[in-house]
Amino acid sequence: MKEFIIAPSILSADFARLGEDTQKVLDAGADVIHFDVMDNHFVPNLTMGSMFCKALRDYGITAPIDVHLMASPVEELITSFAKAGATNISIHPEATIHLDRSIQLIKDHGCSAGIVLNPATSLDYLDYIIDKIDIILLMSVNPGFGGQSFIPSTFKKLQQTRKRIIDSGRDIRLEVDGGVKVDNIAEIAKAGADMFVAGSAIFGEPDYKAVIDAMRQQLAG
Ligand code: DX5
Ligand code: ZN
Repeated sequence: MKEFIIAPSILSADFARLGEDTQKVLDAGADVIHFDVMDNHFVPNLTMGSMFCKALRDYGITAPIDVHLMASPVEELITSFAKAGATNISIHPEATIHLDRSIQLIKDHGCSAGIVLNPATSLDYLDYIIDKIDIILLMSVNPGFGGQSFIPSTFKKLQQTRKRIIDSGRDIRLEVDGGVKVDNIAEIAKAGADMFVAGSAIFGEPDYKAVIDAMRQQLAG
């Protein structure tokens, strides 16, 4: 398993040239494509449905697609995204009444399953689900928009989550999403993260490769 995964969020890509821009960020060295699904109900913004995911697959994107569902209800979306070619599907516990069942549904479709915790959402949600998940995604901003600042309390939460992962003895990715930049990625990694979502930090610069290389250099210490 790769030590560190860089997952650009295509929320900040050029939506008018989505296939091309996604391929461009992969050619620049991205490992995974982070795909933000917002429904203007669970979060105050509206983005892409599963047809966009299928369109990227049809365009020829073969990299893993990491779907972050900020939408409710989740069941239909899990099924449609799995069929559209999602690799990972992560859900917020507040978006489903039956978290265990929804996680199982993701796995039944052959995808890796993740739980997403908002900045003020308790780690207690992990107690009875940690044995079943492949990814824990900690939000380091309140979900809904790209370009926000990293919330500092996430550092402590990352450390506590890393400890829980070690105690579980399981192979779980610890992903962080929101406000990740070249100048804070090393500290975020030190706190325990091993998968990094970055939207505006990468797509906001003309040279994606320069940003991704700089992030890897920071991660290498
Ligand atoms: C926020 C999304 C993030 C967002 C991150 O709700 O889940 O994935 O794209 O954007 P940046 O990296 O700009 O904070
Ligand atoms: Zn996201």
